[in-house]
Amino acid sequence: MRKNFGVKTWAYPMPVYIVAAYDKEGVPCCMNAAWGGIYDTNQIMVCLSDDHKTTKNIIESGAFTVSIADAKHVIEADYVGIVSGNKVPDKMARAGLTVERSAFVNAPIINEFPMTVECRLL
Ligand SMILES: Cc1cc2nc3c(=O)[nH]c(=O)nc-3n(C[C@H](O)[C@H](O)[C@H](O)COP(=O)(O)O)c2cc1C
Repeated sequence: MRKNFGVKTWAYPMPVYIVAAYDKEGVPCCMNAAWGGIYDTNQIMVCLSDDHKTTKNIIESGAFTVSIADAKHVIEADYVGIVSGNKVPDKMARAGLTVERSAFVNAPIINEFPMTVECRLL
């Protein structure tokens, strides 16, 4: 029997992307983004609020990465979705996440996550 849940922001299962970018000083930040997905054959889209530290970083640097977190890192992934780099500048270190610079774009790759898409901002 199907149940009508009404109009909700739901898809199931819903992946949560971890979007990461550097600020002007090269400090990495990242955040959760459930509003996102593939777009055309060589693009990914994410819908990010202006006030997030990660959003500001992406606009400044013109680049970002999108990782898919795994179950092993659910606590770290949860942390970066509820704490802001606007208030906690070393948020990623506090989350226990480490990064290396992408070879393709000016954005951090999060070592702990198994898959990353490296993106230029369009
Ligand atoms: C499960 C989950 C999904 C989220 N999806 C989005 C999203 O798609 N877009 C967005 O702007 N914020 C989203 N957020 C909120 C940001 O991840 C959150 O405010 C984060 O702390 C911003 O970090 P920052 O300011 O360090 O960039 C989501 C949060 C959670 C917990």
